[in-house]
Amino acid sequence: MRATYKTLFVFYVLISNVFVNAFEPISTTFLVGLGVAAVGRKFYNYVYESCDSKWIYFNSTGLEVALDQKLFGQHVASRVVQKAVTGFINNKNPKKPLVLSLHGWTGTGKNFVSQLIAENIYKEGMASSFVHQFVSTAHFPHLNQIEDYKSQLQQWVKGNVTNCPRSMFIFDEMDKMHPGLIDCIKPYLEYYEHLDGVSYRQSIFIFLSNAGGEHITQVALDFWKAGRDREEMKLLDLEPALSLSVFNNKQSGLWHTSLIDKNLVDFFVPFLPLEYRHVLLCGMAEMSAKGLKPDRDVVDQMARELVYFPKSERIFSSKGCKTIGGKLDYYT
Ligand SMILES: *[C@@H]1O[C@H](CO)[C@@H](O)[C@H](O)[C@H]1NC(C)=O
Ligand SMILES: *[C@@H]1O[C@H](CO)[C@@H](O)[C@H](O)[C@H]1NC(C)=O
Repeated sequence: MRATYKTLFVFYVLISNVFVNAFEPISTTFLVGLGVAAVGRKFYNYVYESCDSKWIYFNSTGLEVALDQKLFGQHVASRVVQKAVTGFINNKNPKKPLVLSLHGWTGTGKNFVSQLIAENIYKEGMASSFVHQFVSTAHFPHLNQIEDYKSQLQQWVKGNVTNCPRSMFIFDEMDKMHPGLIDCIKPYLEYYEHLDGVSYRQSIFIFLSNAGGEHITQVALDFWKAGRDREEMKLLDLEPALSLSVFNNKQSGLWHTSLIDKNLVDFFVPFLPLEYRHVLLCGMAEMSAKGLKPDRDVVDQMARELVYFPKSERIFSSKGCKTIGGKLDYYT
């Protein structure tokens, strides 16, 4: 027994000496090299935006607070967006990318909500290299170049998701987008696990359009006329008007596609027309944002001069909170 231990011990010393002598210099250099590389990588990640949890993390509370305090008059949209985004990001194994379709009159906050979502997922917000915004009339203006746009858009989506699975794509003026162009992004919205080796299931697609705006407004107007509180309005009250208008409105790009038939859109989010009191809130917030002391008189004066509809009742601001930034400059 003892002999065996001894042999083993000698053998061990021998072996470890061989290892230490033979490999020590190499392994030290190697380890130091690794260390430098790691520090370098850390530094790089620190300075340059990377597709990792340092730069991309969802702040659920942050989104909730932002929607609650910065978005005015959109209690339905607020709730749907919070629920949709939180549910999607907390789902470790989503079966498809998140697809939101935001509908409503101009100036009601659709772009703003996209921005709030981006700000609470990406450290760099809208400036993140993982957030991509396309405006139909600006990016895809010429009908005769539609084939080029299609291949370009597909390459972009694929390239960007390959770089970073948690990418976000915002398509503005969806109702002015060529149906062929919508069709070409459809495969990415589907339930595929992989498409040519790329998985799109972590991505977020947001479509913005005015489609359905009139119908949403009608529901809001009916509520107002019935003397009901606007805050009583539920998604359920707005959904029928929304899907009907989207289906029936040939102007709307969505009509031409099977986005809806195939249930590729997870949530249709209605944005209500804004009233005078909401414009006031926007105005006060805008003044703070500009570093001015919010002045109720100034904001009041500005808000009173906006156009409201329907003509007789003058309830809803025809441009919502859009352009009030510029208008305030004039009044202050
Ligand atoms: C999340 O958002 C809240 C509210 O805006 C903020 O107080 C908090 O610091 C944020 N958390 C992180 C980790 O950024
Ligand atoms: C990502 O999308 C942008 C457009 O937002 C495009 O310019 C860029 O080339 C795309 N990147 C890749 C790798 O395809």
